[in-house]
Amino acid sequence: MIIGSIRLKNFRNHSDTIIEFGEKANVILGNNGEGKTNLLEAISYISLTKSFYASSDSVIVKIGENNFSIEAIVISDLGSNYKVYISYDLKNSEKIYSINNRKLDTFSSIIGKFPIVFLSPEKAGITFGGPVERRKFLDLVISQSDQVYFSDLSEYRKILRHRNKILSEIKNTRNDLYTVLEPWNEQLINYGSKLMMKRAEFIDEFKSYILNTYKNLSNVNEYPEIEYAASFSYNGEISYDSISEKFKKELTKKMDYEIKFGTTLVGPHRDEVSFKINNMDLRKYASQGQHKTFLVALKLAEYFYLKERCKESPILLLDDVFSELDDLRVQHMLRLIETLNQTFITSTNFEIFDKVLDFGKCNRKYVISGGNVKEV
Ligand SMILES: Nc1ncnc2c1ncn2[C@@H]1O[C@H](COP(=O)(O)OP(=O)(O)OP(=O)(O)O)[C@@H](O)[C@H]1O
Ligand SMILES: [Mg+2]
Repeated sequence: MIIGSIRLKNFRNHSDTIIEFGEKANVILGNNGEGKTNLLEAISYISLTKSFYASSDSVIVKIGENNFSIEAIVISDLGSNYKVYISYDLKNSEKIYSINNRKLDTFSSIIGKFPIVFLSPEKAGITFGGPVERRKFLDLVISQSDQVYFSDLSEYRKILRHRNKILSEIKNTRNDLYTVLEPWNEQLINYGSKLMMKRAEFIDEFKSYILNTYKNLSNVNEYPEIEYAASFSYNGEISYDSISEKFKKELTKKMDYEIKFGTTLVGPHRDEVSFKINNMDLRKYASQGQHKTFLVALKLAEYFYLKERCKESPILLLDDVFSELDDLRVQHMLRLIETLNQTFITSTNFEIFDKVLDFGKCNRKYVISGGNVKEV
């Protein structure tokens, strides 16, 4: 897919921004605080129906205004045109997402239709940080490529919230609520096992993608690995029955602890993913450069995985990822990016791109200042 054009009204510091994009690399230049990330954030709404980092739509509305809107023309790989319209009204907290003038009833139905891959320095948490970031990574990739996973995930989260509430009540009141807990256990096991099975299958498939992209980025003899470290082990066999059976046993085993802590201690919300280079744990042993290379390889692998799975080229958003890289690495990465479909790249460095990219036709260059965008 590509985004042909976009119009933002009262979106963060963009009062009324209209841009026509190029089919390949779109470089968005500007000093700090001028509105580059805001533009990428607007693009993320098209794919995810929400911001990739703001937790609430209300902070997006331009200060002093009542609503924001995004209008975009999205063109699929097969040439279909979609007119996407998104708006949010502050007063009644109403959000609308429509495609070709038809309002969506459920926002979740759009996930995966316009696949997106996003990389920014904050994403470093995926390799440096705790397991939460890695689970988020898993969930976003799998959700975009598999609608069922996405709906199972939201179901699981609801069940988990309910179950945690009951556990915390047992902990605090000492009331005998075990019969109330029982049906939630079954639900937790059912949805949790489905998620864990999909995660295990995904990581198995994803291994070859990361191997290829890492090889393209690094010229040394480094072998990257990604392993699923599930919340509990289950004989190595990936099947719903083997996972759910073990899940049940683990829940029984951990019951006393769950009551002591008033929370669910078993399940996919406790999963981990381990990253390794040459059999060494990335978090413990890797250099800064290896971390960065791994992260970029991971994101490019995500790109190629989604492209195959969704039967649609994702758009790639790179927010300020070139600033700490040396010239040679920048050139290497830009050459690679040129082989992909549409990309959006923000930077405060006005010079690095001209050495590699030809601007004018497929590649475009813009400068943002105070939320005003000009093609240059
Ligand atoms: N709801 C809002 N209304 C008006 N302005 C906003 C709103 N939210 C954020 N801003 C403004 O947007 C600007 C930040 O924009 P953005 O994060 O896109 O900057 P940037 O160009 O990516 O900068 P950097 O290079 O530092 O990352 C800030 O000046 C901020 O005050
Ligand atoms: Mg920014």
